[in-house]
Amino acid sequence: MSALPPRLADPARRPATAPPTTAPDTGCPLTDAFGRQVRYLRLSVTDRCDLRCVYCMAARPVFMPRDQILTIEELARLAGIFMANGVRRIRLTGGEPLVRRGVMTLIERLGAAVGDGRLDELTLTTNGTRLGVHAADLAAAGIRRVNVSLDSLNPDTFHRLTRGGRLDGVLDGLDRAQAAGLHVKINAVALAGVIEREVDGLIRFAHGRGMDLTLIEVMPLGETGHDRRTQFLSLDHLRDDLATRWTLTSLPDRTAGPARYLRVAETGGRLGLITPLSHRFCEHCDRVRVSAAGRLYTCLGHDGAVDLAPALRAGAPDATEALIRQTLRLKPQGHDFAITRDAAHGIGRTMAALGG
Ligand code: 5AD
Ligand code: SF4
Repeated sequence: MSALPPRLADPARRPATAPPTTAPDTGCPLTDAFGRQVRYLRLSVTDRCDLRCVYCMAARPVFMPRDQILTIEELARLAGIFMANGVRRIRLTGGEPLVRRGVMTLIERLGAAVGDGRLDELTLTTNGTRLGVHAADLAAAGIRRVNVSLDSLNPDTFHRLTRGGRLDGVLDGLDRAQAAGLHVKINAVALAGVIEREVDGLIRFAHGRGMDLTLIEVMPLGETGHDRRTQFLSLDHLRDDLATRWTLTSLPDRTAGPARYLRVAETGGRLGLITPLSHRFCEHCDRVRVSAAGRLYTCLGHDGAVDLAPALRAGAPDATEALIRQTLRLKPQGHDFAITRDAAHGIGRTMAALGG
């Protein structure tokens, strides 16, 4: 394999520190061994998707057997258990959540929890292809914010990156989402060779419509048929490049999330950078993920998971809760990805299998 271009980050692999055996008492039932309180659940409702983004999936992905996917009823029950244990925000993810049959029923049930104060917020990450159809219903159900993944504003590039997707459908979805009053954030994966050409247009487009834009470094998740090392571009490098054309100032608003934000003076908009590879962001991590099959992942960057489905399906909420609390104790201190000159140290499952 040829040497990587100099723009490629070469972060040292750091082993995750083993958790201490006792957890501090913070009053939050889901507190991990490092004192981090888990208040945020990312719940995948399907691993299926109507697109095949080159950094996310293989052209012919193998999806989970349907009988392993939790029913809408089971997903709602599981969300209820997390809410009873201190989770205040839920994000529904996929695959593509809006391809899941019955997802609106789940959204209405969880939206009711926002209405009666059991949840602070219910959000959705979507590729936007079905947003046009669902935007008004999402807003009516209590969703206020959606993240839409959009990597290119060029119809041909979009078609190539998604292996067949149509840009105009997504743009229509964005229009309808904004018309329905949803706050939209655009997420773009920083693919080397693409983002350099796209980023200025994405900034103008998103900020011109009052939407934040967040750029995400490619993470080595799953087998996609593409070499990660040719896909990866360090956002530190991209930021330096942007600074030659845009006036960027760092914003102090660090949420518990992984993004760092910049203000773009020329547009007045916010630009987020998610840099799992060039900067680790794990110290403030307040989240866990559950796959559509009911596997609880305490870290995006570790393969370790605990299967909640048997207890959940047996109708044993106490056992499910005990399992969740136990698993939380094992949440690793940090992820362990790296893309180096020699190899991509990734993990086996894709974002779609796990829930972005
Ligand atoms: N690296 C970075 N981002 C990814 N996404 C999917 N796979 C990857 C990957 N390997 C993004 C999607 C979407 C979000 C849920 O995750 O584009 O924006
Ligand atoms: Fe589908 Fe999102 Fe994966 Fe693209 S990144 S294939 S839209 S799940």
